[in-house]
Amino acid sequence: MQVLLCLVCAFGLFGQFRQTPLPDIREDNGSVHPTTPAQNDLSLATKYLQRFYSFQADPTGRRRRSRPSFSSKLKDMQSFFGLNRTGTLNPETLLVMRTPRCGVSDVEDYSHRRGNRWRKNLITYGVGRYTSDLPVNTVDTLIALALDVWAKASPLTFLRSYSHQADIMVEFVSNEHGDSFPFDGPEGTLAHAFGPGEGIGGDVHFDEAEVWTAGPKGFDLYLVAAHEFGHALGLKHSQSPESVMYPKYKHRKTYNLLSSEDIININTLYGPRNKQPSPSSRFSWSYPSNPWYSGSYFPVPLKDMCNPDLTFDAVTTVGEAIFFFRDKYLWIKHNNQNDIKEGPISNFMPNIDRKIDAAYWVPQRSTAYLFNGTNFWTVKGSQVKCRAKNISSLGFPSWVQQIDAAVHIHKTVHTLFFTEHLYWRYNEHYKTMNDSSPRNISDDFPGINGPISAALYKDGSLHFFVGSDVYKYDFKQKEIIGADKTTSWLGC
Ligand SMILES: *[C@@H]1O[C@H](CO)[C@@H](O)[C@H](O)[C@H]1NC(C)=O
Ligand SMILES: *[C@@H]1O[C@H](CO)[C@@H](O)[C@H](O)[C@H]1NC(C)=O
Ligand SMILES: *[C@@H]1O[C@H](CO)[C@@H](O)[C@H](O)[C@H]1NC(C)=O
Ligand SMILES: *[C@@H]1O[C@H](CO)[C@@H](O)[C@H](O)[C@H]1NC(C)=O
Ligand SMILES: *[C@@H]1O[C@H](CO)[C@@H](O)[C@H](O)[C@H]1NC(C)=O
Ligand SMILES: [Zn+2]
Ligand SMILES: [Zn+2]
Repeated sequence: MQVLLCLVCAFGLFGQFRQTPLPDIREDNGSVHPTTPAQNDLSLATKYLQRFYSFQADPTGRRRRSRPSFSSKLKDMQSFFGLNRTGTLNPETLLVMRTPRCGVSDVEDYSHRRGNRWRKNLITYGVGRYTSDLPVNTVDTLIALALDVWAKASPLTFLRSYSHQADIMVEFVSNEHGDSFPFDGPEGTLAHAFGPGEGIGGDVHFDEAEVWTAGPKGFDLYLVAAHEFGHALGLKHSQSPESVMYPKYKHRKTYNLLSSEDIININTLYGPRNKQPSPSSRFSWSYPSNPWYSGSYFPVPLKDMCNPDLTFDAVTTVGEAIFFFRDKYLWIKHNNQNDIKEGPISNFMPNIDRKIDAAYWVPQRSTAYLFNGTNFWTVKGSQVKCRAKNISSLGFPSWVQQIDAAVHIHKTVHTLFFTEHLYWRYNEHYKTMNDSSPRNISDDFPGINGPISAALYKDGSLHFFVGSDVYKYDFKQKEIIGADKTTSWLGC
């Protein structure tokens, strides 16, 4: 398991917590010790400060100089929540401590490095174990909406993945669940998340012991998820009750969830969202101490996506999104989001700094294949395999030097490759090229005259992009059943 920057502190803290028993707070009068309400309060406060304020209780009961005392940690907590800094456990303080909240610590670890963020703009997510409180579709919708809160304020795109290796894995779990941060039954800690990183990094866990709802009764999954995804993207807790990153659970209006502070914080990590950019606002972002902000992350020239002569080099579905490639540029249209994400391909897939001639997606493998000349790359989630492969490994003869378009038809497990006036049929299951390939496009797709720039299979139909036109093709009836301009696919 990877130890993540964001939670390094919590790890240390919990390690400590597990090795170090709570201070014995019972009076030793030689008899059985029933716990009194005051002792319960002290025990609650100790656990709370250990969990959320890196308080280290000393097992010997003596105070060490080097460690901050209980009362100084209590003061930290009181200032965080805007209470009087008394350093004593008063009813106001206890009330806050009893409020349901996020399981992530409120204090930054000394070793926390600035700028813990995903180094890509395309982030995959998946849902592992679901809650029994809500229908699966409802959970999917609320999770997508909660991610959209951040997508709308940043250049990030979230892509649903059905593999268990998505960047952000969402799970509903209870008690011990394998990550050293056991949940605590109803109320108390509601959820926690890991900051950006490999493995468990970015993952979000919801306490299945809570009653999750799609509204104001019980705990609103949308509100808690929006908060946890903030952590999954690298954000910390905010002291402002207006912020979605405030650690306590709080009912709030569900529209315009982000406060201005939240928007500034997400923009500091990822830059502003790249819709309607003005060159000045783009250049005004400067990140002197973060090397990865230099260069290609916030490119200036945006393509004119509504130009009627627009043509694409390659188009493919990727999960629930459609990727449109042109030169080294990429537009991403998500089925459930109205806006289009765009930018240089390398923003989304850091290793690919090429024009893409052809692309296709195999949903069974959650894998996209991107072609340039005789090279192709596999992209799983947004993880690009560094080494390109040669198309000869797919069975192409050496005289094929580039592929115009490719499309995978998952019903038949075949991929069709188009090169000039010919096409090839590849069986993804057996990984073999059909013996009768290549065949003439015009023999098997009457009405389609190549060269084909891009091809897409969506909702049971093939779509051939030929120049700036798109033909919808019924491949059973072998006829064109519709025509459009390419730009209509980008909502122009
Ligand atoms: C803080 O203390 C003042 C008096 O010292 C009191 O009036 C006020 O209500 C206290 N605030 C809180 C949040 O306890
Ligand atoms: C491969 O990518 C390079 C660099 O973007 C580009 O110049 C070249 O035309 C591409 N190859 C093909 C066959 O499109
Ligand atoms: C791929 O293989 C073919 C034939 O084996 C060869 O002509 C071509 O140069 C190779 N391409 C690359 C990029 O190595
Ligand atoms: C090759 O494709 C043809 C249809 O074009 C099909 O009838 C045949 O079964 C395929 N052969 C193999 C080995 O898949
Ligand atoms: C494709 O069609 C052309 C005529 O347009 C013909 O000369 C050629 O042999 C055909 N190729 C195949 C593989 O059927
Ligand atoms: Zn939190
Ligand atoms: Zn967990």
